[in-house]
Amino acid sequence: MQVAVHSFADSADGGKRLAQALGAEICAVDVHEFPDGERRIRVAATPPVALLFRSLDRPNGKIVETLLAADALRDRGAKWIGLVAPYFAYMRQDRAFAVGEAVSQRVIGRLIAGAFDAVVTVAPHLHRTADFSAVVPGRATCVVAASDVLAAILRTGPLTADTIILGPDVEATPIARGVAERLALPWAVATKRRRTDNAVDIVLPGERWRDRTVVLVDDIVSTGGTLIACAERLRAGGAARIEAVACHALFDVSAELRMQQAGIVHVRCADTVPHNSVVHVIAPLLAAGLRELLP
Ligand code: R5P
Repeated sequence: MQVAVHSFADSADGGKRLAQALGAEICAVDVHEFPDGERRIRVAATPPVALLFRSLDRPNGKIVETLLAADALRDRGAKWIGLVAPYFAYMRQDRAFAVGEAVSQRVIGRLIAGAFDAVVTVAPHLHRTADFSAVVPGRATCVVAASDVLAAILRTGPLTADTIILGPDVEATPIARGVAERLALPWAVATKRRRTDNAVDIVLPGERWRDRTVVLVDDIVSTGGTLIACAERLRAGGAARIEAVACHALFDVSAELRMQQAGIVHVRCADTVPHNSVVHVIAPLLAAGLRELLP
């Protein structure tokens, strides 16, 4: 079956890797920005099965462009369109935490569901929503698990026998357990209390850190505050070496520097969003999921 992967310039590298893994054609989506900020989108002719590759980090403009591209692809011959969004935005706000707040996950999920036949993502940040198919109602979905992604990153380098996997909070339990099982390593999770967007308190479980290599695992790194607080506690607990792996690198250079200063020798992230910390691991995992999903 002929499939085309259409990708925007900011996701072109990832789109190309996915197209190669699938043996699909690759096409560029052209974006023109008008002086007032509006966008004109132009897509190439497509076979009936089309994939649109676009990570939705820094999402506000990208979501509009992605919806416009889906509509244009239907005009150019697509009968089935899958969105491949390795980072799917607006997952955190899955309910109104205070009166009057918009439930962003529901709004964005419905918009995307209205434009695509299927949605594929990596490690969506779901806390209270049971699974990703509830986010995009009525659409086929495929999720690449964080543990598969992070284990793939860790397999690219040597692992010492004294390594222990640590998740920073209870929500990271399936990730820490999954990575540890895949690599036959011990694991634990800390307890986290978030004080503000930038500050968290971490309590480590037990005292088995002395002279060990600790690999912190998480889905997202944003301000870096979570990993920094873990690293401070681990250093106080005598850890010999602290590394971190995460799926989505949403952090900037200043956060990177603060993580280094906190004693994290190496932060490696998956290539779900463009970033200088990435290790290219997601294309074969996405392709395997897509082979099950394509019509
Ligand atoms: C929280 O639930 C997530 O799993 C991450 O721990 C969090 O988003 C990381 O954010 P930051 O880097 O800003 O601490």
